[in-house]
Amino acid sequence: MPRYSINDQRFNQTLQELGHLGESPTGMDRVAYSPEDILGRDYAIKLMKEAGLETRIDNAGNIIGRLAGVDENLPVIALGSHTDTVPKGGKYDGALGVMAAIEVIRTLKDQGHTTKHSLEVINFTNEEGTRFHRWLVGSRSMCGLLEQDDLDAVDDDGFGLGPCLADIGGDISHIEEARRSTGELAAYLELHIEQGPYLHKSGNPIGVVTGITGRAVFEVEIEGKANHAGTTPMETRRDALVSASKLVLAIQKMAAEQEICRVSTVGSIRAVPNAVNVIPGSASIGLEFRDTDMAALAAAEQELRRITDEAIVNEEVAIDVQRHRFTSSVPISAEMQAMVAEAAENCGMTWEPLASGAGHDAQAVANIAPVAMIFVPSVDGISHSPEEYSTPQDCANGAQVLLELLLLADERL
Ligand code: GLV
Ligand code: MN
Ligand code: MN
Repeated sequence: MPRYSINDQRFNQTLQELGHLGESPTGMDRVAYSPEDILGRDYAIKLMKEAGLETRIDNAGNIIGRLAGVDENLPVIALGSHTDTVPKGGKYDGALGVMAAIEVIRTLKDQGHTTKHSLEVINFTNEEGTRFHRWLVGSRSMCGLLEQDDLDAVDDDGFGLGPCLADIGGDISHIEEARRSTGELAAYLELHIEQGPYLHKSGNPIGVVTGITGRAVFEVEIEGKANHAGTTPMETRRDALVSASKLVLAIQKMAAEQEICRVSTVGSIRAVPNAVNVIPGSASIGLEFRDTDMAALAAAEQELRRITDEAIVNEEVAIDVQRHRFTSSVPISAEMQAMVAEAAENCGMTWEPLASGAGHDAQAVANIAPVAMIFVPSVDGISHSPEEYSTPQDCANGAQVLLELLLLADERL
């Protein structure tokens, strides 16, 4: 039996309320720094304040709500996730972890239980990285993993990060002040939807996350020659979109057939001028590879460079491969995994170990503190889609295990 029961109904209501902010018939749009993202952030701040958390925004735009523990000299235990979404995303990715963290605090308050450690609920900013093609920006800022390249990044319209960060209460010129040092956090605990099919298939309500995948992101620019679609003979064309399309297929094969890495995806494509009667003069694709083995990501980069060299020669185009970022895979310690399993068992729930194929703020935080992650099922394994769904019971199960995990961590760390 868990020590205290979370309030299922109150908790699921907050998830639904947050899920109406930025909602449209085509999905959730709370892309980081957008007005809708700010609505979601404001909602989280309101709940944190109502829960009695002392709430602030750091220079990276992270929202941090703090509750004093019995011993203020102990390092803090943090719980959290993110409320930004991908474009046309779902209601549960990230939102679940933030709303559950707040519900855990509310339950502790209802029960009059003060933990030994001070607690922090953290809503990390810009986990998804859609607009500036840089992800985990809030958590990497906090953990000393931000690079100059992240600060210099511009969006597709050439607009820089600084003003966006100011809009959400951050300050790019002093962003380094968001940094926390090793030892400041006793642990970081993150509940998240699985975003894959395994728990839905097995029927286990809880996944104990064993590690988080590595990821390598690239942008490829292809320069051909724009010309008239009606008058230019087929054999003299230098069609950038045709070269891009060949790359799309070759990149898909790298994981699907050559098995160079676990998954390979081209997620974005642009053609210029994108007009039906013009041979595209330039094109660009955004792509990523993921694997827990970083050597597989290095091999994927090598193959990417080989196929682009081939395209340059065969198709008389110029290709520039920009390597955006390699995010290291992160193992989760056996001790932290065991604590999640014990928390699930204390709540009477079955669990299974699972590796995360998605990225999470926890992988940045792992740089400065022990982390644990709890997964709950995603119906049909769908995520980053308006069809993303986890049942109210699944969500409540996750929040309940998060509370139990926090109590175990508070006793043992
Ligand atoms: C984060 O959501 C990811 O793309 O894994
Ligand atoms: Mn996501
Ligand atoms: Mn997420």
